[in-house]
Amino acid sequence: MPTLKLNRARREDAEKTEEFYNALRTNIQLSGDGIDVISISSVQSGEGKSTTSVNLAIAFARSGYQTLLVDADIRNSVMSGVFSTRDKITGLTDYLTGKNDLSEGLCDTDIENLYMIQAGPVSPNPTGLLQSQNFNKMIDILRKYYDYIIIDTPPIGLVIDAAIITQQGDATVLVVESGSNKRRAVEKAVEQLEQTGTPFLGVILNKVDTSMERYGSYGAYGSYGDYGNYGKKIREEKKKKEKKKDKEERSRSRRNRDKK
Ligand SMILES: Nc1ncnc2c1ncn2[C@@H]1O[C@H](COP(=O)(O)OP(=O)(O)O)[C@@H](O)[C@H]1O
Ligand SMILES: [Mg+2]
Repeated sequence: MPTLKLNRARREDAEKTEEFYNALRTNIQLSGDGIDVISISSVQSGEGKSTTSVNLAIAFARSGYQTLLVDADIRNSVMSGVFSTRDKITGLTDYLTGKNDLSEGLCDTDIENLYMIQAGPVSPNPTGLLQSQNFNKMIDILRKYYDYIIIDTPPIGLVIDAAIITQQGDATVLVVESGSNKRRAVEKAVEQLEQTGTPFLGVILNKVDTSMERYGSYGAYGSYGDYGNYGKKIREEKKKKEKKKDKEERSRSRRNRDKK
């Protein structure tokens, strides 16, 4: 089995944000029994699906669960920039097209208990591939071997793939980048996910600007995604502003004193 190595920057990110994703993991586990296969989607790309999928999978693995991360964003996979390897990797599309055996696509990672199936080469008909019986069959088989399966999907605002994938899972969550979507677009995505009949657990509000007022969110989740440099930058800006205010205050009181 080939071994994938999580890139250093990603590992550091995962360490910094561990508590957020652990809280998310716990919330998912508390959402009900039999939630083992979880699909992660978003309205558009770039909102943080893959980041959430990787970090959530790591959170499950670190808690001792045999965890499998499946990159089903077979149109636009970025995982090759997240994990690296020298081995030749067989991916999901290779299996779905019948080219390779499922076992050939399974990869170990350098994180204990974490395994992965990469997306594989881009195929001309991704929706068709996901709709094929092979995808169903694959999930059914993998359920027997892993405690949790996290599936990274394409954006539901663009293509229907995420709904097809969600149908095969036990639950789904929607990653929403704070401030980047119209409310109606998010509501429509939630409707589409709910129509699959698979329980919709809630929204993960990502890239939250903590200097703003608290948002109301749709689902059970609060703002787990504020992390790393983004959060740090905001905190630094806040500190700078406070310092400036302090300075102004001091010089104002000095001026007042001098006047007297
Ligand atoms: N909470 C966050 N704070 C800062 N940057 C983030 C956050 N979540 C994701 N990102 C960054 O946003 C970009 C898009 O994230 P990604 O997970 O690849 O999105 P998607 O899979 O939805 O297309 C990446 O560069 C990622 O590092
Ligand atoms: Mg992605």
